[in-house]
Amino acid sequence: MRAARIRNIRRALAYSLLAIGCLLLAATILSPKASTAIPSVDGCVSCHQKQNAAVLALFVRSTHGQAGKSCSSCHGGDPSATDKQAAHGAGFVGKPTAAEQLRMCGNCHRAQMVAFRGSRHAAGAQPGQRPDCVQCHGAHGVGVRPADFSLSYYCSGCHGLEYLPALPSQWRDMLAVSDEIRNSIREREEAGSHPSSDVITRAKDIRRQIAEVVHATDLQSGIERSADIVKQGEAVKKAVASSK
Ligand code: HEC
Ligand code: HEC
Ligand code: HEC
Ligand code: HEC
Ligand code: HEC
Repeated sequence: MRAARIRNIRRALAYSLLAIGCLLLAATILSPKASTAIPSVDGCVSCHQKQNAAVLALFVRSTHGQAGKSCSSCHGGDPSATDKQAAHGAGFVGKPTAAEQLRMCGNCHRAQMVAFRGSRHAAGAQPGQRPDCVQCHGAHGVGVRPADFSLSYYCSGCHGLEYLPALPSQWRDMLAVSDEIRNSIREREEAGSHPSSDVITRAKDIRRQIAEVVHATDLQSGIERSADIVKQGEAVKKAVASSK
């Protein structure tokens, strides 16, 4: 009995690794940001890989997948369990409500959650009329944006239409520099070169600075800080372009 069970688990794991291998291969071919890390194969991943192949393919390439997180990092439950009921047990959240989503992300991103909670985007939120974490970042594909994605174009879906004035040009410049850095890193990687970890750290720091004003929807501070952030951004773009 026990031996047979262990054999079954082994077989299931072998299939999981095979399937993930295929996914990774597909991701490597499709994505210039070639995945190097294999996500941890736990109960969630091995049972969900068939029914949620699209979710998994996206997740493997995401910043969270690359950082070694798993489904349970957000959804909770018991990743070591192999049957559904036990896995979907303690602290499991399947389809999160808006409030649960905020808590999910806020578990690890506390500063961002606090800033967002005090923002004009959170105030008296009408579902759909104001963006939240998942609307701006996605859920399973955090960090993997299509090359033609433009932040300021995304924001202009609400700002500049009907009831909201367009964001000031300083804001659009600041958002554009974030897109440009992301795209130039992707291009360099496509060309087989790797920006140094120092350059990556500087790029992250620029994202953090922009995030501070965006999460808090601090219009005035964004206007004041934009020129400095754009200047730093241009320097990082140059460093990325000259990376070997
Ligand atoms: C043995 C199979 C199995 C395991 C293990 C498993 N799940 Fe599931 N899960 C399912 C099935 C089947 C569904 C489809 C909906 C249902 O039947 O409840 C599902 C649904 C879900 C959903 C969608 C919820 C909804 O209401 O539609 C999420 C999210 C989820 N699982 C996450 C997880 C996480 C996280 C883990 C690990 C802690 C996990 N699952 C482990 C089989 C499994
Ligand atoms: C970074 C947090 C995060 C991680 C990690 C994560 N999810 Fe989710 N998941 C969410 C959020 C938020 C929602 C609800 C919003 C949505 O559907 O886009 C969701 C919804 C779902 C749903 C139900 C909605 C649907 O699309 O059918 C399923 C199924 C699901 N996740 C499966 C998984 C599986 C399988 C994994 C692991 C490969 C996983 N999730 C990892 C945050 C996460
Ligand atoms: C279990 C902890 C955990 C949870 C839960 C979590 N994150 Fe993360 N997140 C991380 C880690 C770790 C990183 C990588 C940090 C780094 O590389 O500096 C990250 C990075 C990010 C980034 C930066 C991505 C990039 O490449 O620019 C964003 C945006 C993000 N998370 C959004 C979210 C959202 C939205 C949710 C909820 C749906 C969420 N996170 C849930 C741990 C988590
Ligand atoms: C209005 C859109 C928007 C909303 C809502 C939003 N973000 Fe962001 N977030 C951004 C932008 C813009 C950046 C910086 C530029 C970039 O990443 O390209 C960013 C950056 C980040 C980063 C990486 C930089 C850092 O601060 O370390 C994390 C992590 C993050 N967001 C998490 C969250 C979480 C968690 C929530 C919900 C509490 C959230 N975001 C809500 C737009 C948004
Ligand atoms: C789904 C619609 C929607 C999207 C998308 C959206 N916003 Fe907003 N934004 C709003 C609403 C609604 C308000 C609140 C207006 C008010 O309180 O009068 C707001 C307020 C703001 C404010 C404060 C404006 C002020 O006058 O003080 C800033 C700054 C802002 N958003 C930036 C952004 C940025 C940057 C993005 C893209 C990363 C973005 N928003 C995406 C709907 C949106």
